Amino acid sequence: MKNWKRYTITAALPYANGPKHIGHLAGAYLPADIYVRYLRANKRDVVFVCGSDEHGTAITFQALQENTTPRAIIDKYHVLIKESFEQLGILFDIYHRTSEPLHHETSQEFFLDFYNKGLFKEVTSEQYYDEAKNVFLADRYIVGTCPNCGHDKAFGDQCEKCGKSLSPSELINPRSTLSGAVPVLRETKHWYLPLNEYEPWLRKWLLRDHAKDWKANVYGQCKSWIEGGLQPRAMTRDGEWGIKVPVEGADGKVLYVWFDAPIGYISATKQWAIDNHKNWELYWKDSDTRLIHFVGKDNIVFHCIIFPVMLHMHGDYIVPDNVPANEFLNLEGDKMSTSRRWSVEMHEYLQDFPGKADELRYVLCSIAPETKDSEFTWKDYQTRVNSELVAILGNLVNRVMVLTEKYFDNQVPQAGECSDLKNFITQQREKVAEAMENFRFREALSEMMNVARHGNQLLSEKEPWKLIKTDKQATAIVLYDCLQIIANIGILCHPFLPFTSQKIFAMLNLDSSNFSWNDIGRQNLLKPGHVLGKASLLYQKIEDEQVERQIAKLKKSEVRSPKSEVNTKAMETKTSDIGHPASDKPEITYEDFTKLDLRVGTILTAEKVEKADKLLKLSVDLGFETRTIVSGIAEFFKPEELIGLQVSVVANLAPRKIRGIESKGMILLAEDESKQLRFITPKELTKNGSIIR
Ligand code: MF3
Ligand code: ZN
Repeated sequence: MKNWKRYTITAALPYANGPKHIGHLAGAYLPADIYVRYLRANKRDVVFVCGSDEHGTAITFQALQENTTPRAIIDKYHVLIKESFEQLGILFDIYHRTSEPLHHETSQEFFLDFYNKGLFKEVTSEQYYDEAKNVFLADRYIVGTCPNCGHDKAFGDQCEKCGKSLSPSELINPRSTLSGAVPVLRETKHWYLPLNEYEPWLRKWLLRDHAKDWKANVYGQCKSWIEGGLQPRAMTRDGEWGIKVPVEGADGKVLYVWFDAPIGYISATKQWAIDNHKNWELYWKDSDTRLIHFVGKDNIVFHCIIFPVMLHMHGDYIVPDNVPANEFLNLEGDKMSTSRRWSVEMHEYLQDFPGKADELRYVLCSIAPETKDSEFTWKDYQTRVNSELVAILGNLVNRVMVLTEKYFDNQVPQAGECSDLKNFITQQREKVAEAMENFRFREALSEMMNVARHGNQLLSEKEPWKLIKTDKQATAIVLYDCLQIIANIGILCHPFLPFTSQKIFAMLNLDSSNFSWNDIGRQNLLKPGHVLGKASLLYQKIEDEQVERQIAKLKKSEVRSPKSEVNTKAMETKTSDIGHPASDKPEITYEDFTKLDLRVGTILTAEKVEKADKLLKLSVDLGFETRTIVSGIAEFFKPEELIGLQVSVVANLAPRKIRGIESKGMILLAEDESKQLRFITPKELTKNGSIIR
């Protein structure tokens, strides 16, 4: 592992057009904060930046619908979100805004750098235009009748009734939402980032050099983007709200929001450097700086492909060393969504559970969607708080404090440190550190809790409340050890549970600033004779009634139409952006489903593909014909075990050349969390060619 001199840690800049929910928190902000706190405890040089993402069509559109201005919406939510983060202990060094002049300058400087070097492709294309209002229309600004379901208020990018993704030209009877006018096509010029030209660089930097250290979910998504073929992407938009394109002939054009937003990390660092007398360039241009982006999975492509290409094109900048993106957090069995009101907003949680930031941090870290989507339920929240935080950590601290006060006058008893304990704690510190360094925060948290479990075990084995009657010195030893355990937990839990850590230090009457990560496992964090502070309860039980109230609140506010979800990512794309579908699979219609020709087939022959460890070449009898299909399963199955096996086949997949072999179709397999593959085989022998539906 490289010895990094400093760290630049970013967390995705939230769109400031609404409150943010606990799914966002679990996806990006909490893991980022845990990591940063851990780095700080290790005395590393870190800057942790975030702020409001204020531009983009989503915000403009919302302002229009609510009959207000983007600025008014953002000013409100910028403060709400910033304060929620503070109350949850997410400790940014700066929470900046993309409307700041410094950010506009920084973004324009990037644009001009590329422009002057001739790196953009200028492309003129036809876009819809509102002649009454004299503006180009983003797809979302066009409504009409859905060709699929007949809904008369379908948007130009998507019908929210049936979910079909559309382009404006498909709408029947299209109208501008601004004026009601019929949109007309007009030519407009935009500047495109030729992502395709950076494919070789991406293959080397990302696919080759980060094959091992990036999370599988992140790496896999990037790989499929790159393999799918990268397209030039427009970096400018027609519109007023945003950063002006700083070149001639670009009146009425602004930078694409995904061009300027990630640059927001840089402008935030610049502002922080100004405020704190630091040199921002060291944090962005020195190769000994480790740049890490914390984001949710819908942001992966922007942080792993587009922004790194921009940094690389500029030339002076470092690129991210890792992007440990999380998957999604569901809520009570359904996708979390603010617009559908199926969510727990950060500020609402803080209102309903005052002083319980650590409880939420604990639960979200325990269930964080690190490798796959996970789920938050209120019942589970209650169980984890009551049977883990209260019963294990809270109980340990309380019992030890009360017993010490009672038997030893609230002073650390005279006893020596037991070396087994010291070894155990040191070993736990190493386990937590190893997991932290590799972004496995769930595991790190559970290793931290194991230290508290150990303390409880000690108490129940030794029973100091009985021991005191016969052996005061032995009691002193038990409580001494338990107090050291608690002091160590004070340091260990700080990244996850900063408020708890603070309370523990106060109870122990210690100054937390005297301790760092390396003190964990050190002899005598508490000296014999040291006078402790006042005991107080770390946590309170969550009552059934509190949980029921939350569930009732959810059910009441839910907007019962899964299709009314506003897809902000889709909004930012234009028909001229020929890219990939969003990472998260969209809902499809029955009609979409019927396009699949799924068949039962039997594998007749199977052989390894030369010089390809993963591939098997199969011939499959589909009844009406025998197909050659190349399948990436060689690591999991031996060719000979496949002969005669019945499988499910996507029969109408366009043929693809794989290692020079024409593959016609795809075999379906189920993959579980451990990446174990299993064929989808009919329960009974079925005639080859049978249709699966
Ligand atoms: N605003 C985006 C979102 O909420 C995230 C922007 S991250 C940045 O999905 F890098 F672009 F800033
Ligand atoms: Zn429709």
